[in-house]
Amino acid sequence: MGPDRSPNRWPVIALSNIVKRYVMGGNDVYATRGVSLSVSSGEFVAIMGASGSGKSTLMNIIGCLDVPTSGHYRLDGVNIRDLDDRELSRIRNRKIGFVFQGFNLLPTMSAIANVELPMAYAGVPSKERRHRAEGALESVGLADRMGHFPNEMSGGQQQRVAVARAIVTDPSLILADEPTGNLDSKSSVDVMSAFASLHAQGRTVVMITHEEDIAAYATRVVRLRDGIITQDHHQTPSHPHESHLAHARQAEGSSALAGRP
Ligand SMILES: Nc1ncnc2c1ncn2[C@@H]1O[C@H](COP(=O)(O)OP(=O)(O)OP(=O)(O)O)[C@@H](O)[C@H]1O
Ligand SMILES: [Mg+2]
Repeated sequence: MGPDRSPNRWPVIALSNIVKRYVMGGNDVYATRGVSLSVSSGEFVAIMGASGSGKSTLMNIIGCLDVPTSGHYRLDGVNIRDLDDRELSRIRNRKIGFVFQGFNLLPTMSAIANVELPMAYAGVPSKERRHRAEGALESVGLADRMGHFPNEMSGGQQQRVAVARAIVTDPSLILADEPTGNLDSKSSVDVMSAFASLHAQGRTVVMITHEEDIAAYATRVVRLRDGIITQDHHQTPSHPHESHLAHARQAEGSSALAGRP
């Protein structure tokens, strides 16, 4: 796992007056209308807002999957505007771990092979790949599922494999677009426990969610409406369902998540 970065904070995300305009049949559609947002290392931010409010657009810009029409963005001190496509994809691979609603695991590969994949692309030697993938899977409570294929795991387990895959390259930033959107409430708690554990290790997480219960895990909630930030507040994170879950686990005799502080 990465080093504890908590003693020194620095701006991982600095968005300034970000506008994204689409032209649809001669009409302008503004997905964001001037968003300024700065996120420091170690923050756990939930982005909320109604459908169409611009959450995914903003996330795609933060994740260097898309570029703004106007405005400035610095990721980990790097001005994104200065980069060409090749440099953008390099910075994306090096600095960002993505978790999507639909897991996006390769069905023909075991959990550990899925987690090793980003390191294979990066040319990490196979022994080290295996070692780091094991560590990442342990940290999300899946030490006992490494050889399972996606269709041999629950939704919550598959999403935790996706979380392990996102952190295995030790990115500066973890981005998640509705990571619990396809999960039942027990699996959601498992996945959120994994995110809470990443935050406790000092990692920076930005997550989109529609659910207040899920946003409760974050240290900061940013609300969007019609492409503008309408609310931005810090909070003490709470884990609404965890005590309930602990009882369920005891009843099942299953083990608690490993790696929790
Ligand atoms: N490629 C595109 N072309 C045209 N308009 C777009 C495009 N992508 C998004 N939009 C528009 O921009 C607005 C913001 O879309 P976005 O996907 O960011 O919303 P969202 O907050 O993620 O919504 P949801 O909760 O439904 O996922 C919407 O009105 C959408 O129709
Ligand atoms: Mg969206």
